[in-house]
Amino acid sequence: VGVDPRDVIRVKRDGGRLSPEQIQDFLKGYVDGRVHDYHASALLMAIFCYDLDEAELLAWTRAMLESGTRFDWSHLDGPIVDKHSTGGVGDKVSLVLAPALVACGAKVPMISGRGLGHTGGTLDKLEAVPGLCTELGIERIQSQMAELGFFIAAQTPDLVPADRKLYALRDAAGLVEAIPLIASSILSKKLAEGLDALVLDVKFGSGSFLPDHDKGLRLAARMADLAKGFGLPMTVVVSSMEQPLGRMVGHANEVNESLDCLRGCGPKDLVDLTVRQGGEALLASGLAETLDLGEARLRNSLQNGSAMQVFQRFLKAQGGQGDLEANLTVAPDKSHFLAPEDGYLSCVDCREVGVALQALGGSRVEIGGGLDHGVGLEILSRHGDRVERGQPLVAITHRAKRGLEGCQAHLALAYHVVSEAPKPVGATRTLG
Ligand code: URA
Repeated sequence: VGVDPRDVIRVKRDGGRLSPEQIQDFLKGYVDGRVHDYHASALLMAIFCYDLDEAELLAWTRAMLESGTRFDWSHLDGPIVDKHSTGGVGDKVSLVLAPALVACGAKVPMISGRGLGHTGGTLDKLEAVPGLCTELGIERIQSQMAELGFFIAAQTPDLVPADRKLYALRDAAGLVEAIPLIASSILSKKLAEGLDALVLDVKFGSGSFLPDHDKGLRLAARMADLAKGFGLPMTVVVSSMEQPLGRMVGHANEVNESLDCLRGCGPKDLVDLTVRQGGEALLASGLAETLDLGEARLRNSLQNGSAMQVFQRFLKAQGGQGDLEANLTVAPDKSHFLAPEDGYLSCVDCREVGVALQALGGSRVEIGGGLDHGVGLEILSRHGDRVERGQPLVAITHRAKRGLEGCQAHLALAYHVVSEAPKPVGATRTLG
C-alpha cells in the first residue's frame, strides 16, 4: 500500500514541497492504476499553479524515467546522439539532421512524436512515404541500431509509460503548457534513449509552442539544469519560429524539401539551422574538436551525398518503397494566395500558417485523428521581401478545394503587406 494520493495533492495544493518518496509513490501508483486520472489531474493543476523546484523536478523526471525501460547501447561503437525541437511550423530539421549525424559517425536512436494543433510532428512527415513504418518493436529497434546505427520511431509502450498517460491527461485537461511538465516529459523520453549527448532546439516566436519569449527561455534554462542533474551533456539552441522554417509546410512537401537538403541544395535558413545543431551535436559528443569543425563536417555530409545514402538505407530498413519522389502522395490541385497590395511582406503570426495547413486537412485536430499527407503550402516570399499586388505569396496544394477558403483566410491572418520594411526575425543562438 502506498501513500494516500490525496495527501500528496494537499501538499502541492497548499504550495508546499513534495518529497522524492511522495513523487515516486504517486507516479508509480498512477502507472499501476492505483492512483486515478482525477488524482493526477488535481496534482498536475497544483503543479501548474505552484511549479516544482529544482529537487522536485529532478525527482519527478527520475520517477517518470524509472516507470519504463531504458535503452542500453554500451555494446555499440560511436557516440549515441539525438536532437529534439520544442516544435513549430515547417520544422523538418530531424529528417535531415539525423542521417547527417549518422554519416558523421554518430548513432541516432530517435524517438519522435506526432504533431498536434498547428505544429507538425516528425512521424507524420515520414508517413507521407508509402509503406514506411514508424511503429517499431524493441527487437527491430535493436537490430536496426546494430546494422544502421539509426532509427526514427514512435515511443514504444514500455518507454516512459508515465509520460504516455500523463501527456494524454494533460492534453485532455488543458495542462500542456506548464514548464516543469514539458521539461520532464521531453527529458524523461530523451534520457530513456540512453544518449551520450543531446541538442535541444527551443523555439520562440508566434509559431512556437510557448510563443512568449521569456517563457521559452525559462523552459530552456530549466531543461539545461535538469539535464545537468542527470549528467546528460545537452546543448540548447534557441531559434526563431516567427516564420515557417524553409519554404515547405505539409508532410509530402516537407519530405521533398528534406531531400533537397540531403542533395546539398536546401533553403539557406533550414540548412543553416541543421548545420548549427549538427555542429553542436558533433562537438558535444566528441566527434569534432570545435564547433566550426563540427559544422563543416555536417555541411560536407549534405554536399557529398553521404547523409543521403544513410537516409535511403533508413527508408529501406523501415519499409519505404522504391523511388521516393515518384511515390510521395501529393494532392492534385493548386491555388495561390496573392499579395493584396504593393509593399513589404510581414509574417505577423506564424501559428496561422500551421492553422492554414490544418484547414486543408493537413494536420490533426484531435489525438488519434487522421490527416492528409498530400496537401501543403509552399512559401514563395519571405518575411521582409518586397512584393507587388497580385503576386503569388504562397502556393497551396489542395484536394478539390477542400478547406481552401479557410486556408486562404488563415494565410491572410499570418501575412500582412506593410508599407515599411518590417523588423527582421530573431537570430539563432546557443544558451549557456
Ligand atoms: N513534447 C513532449 O514530448 N512533451 C511535452 O510536454 C511537450 C512537447
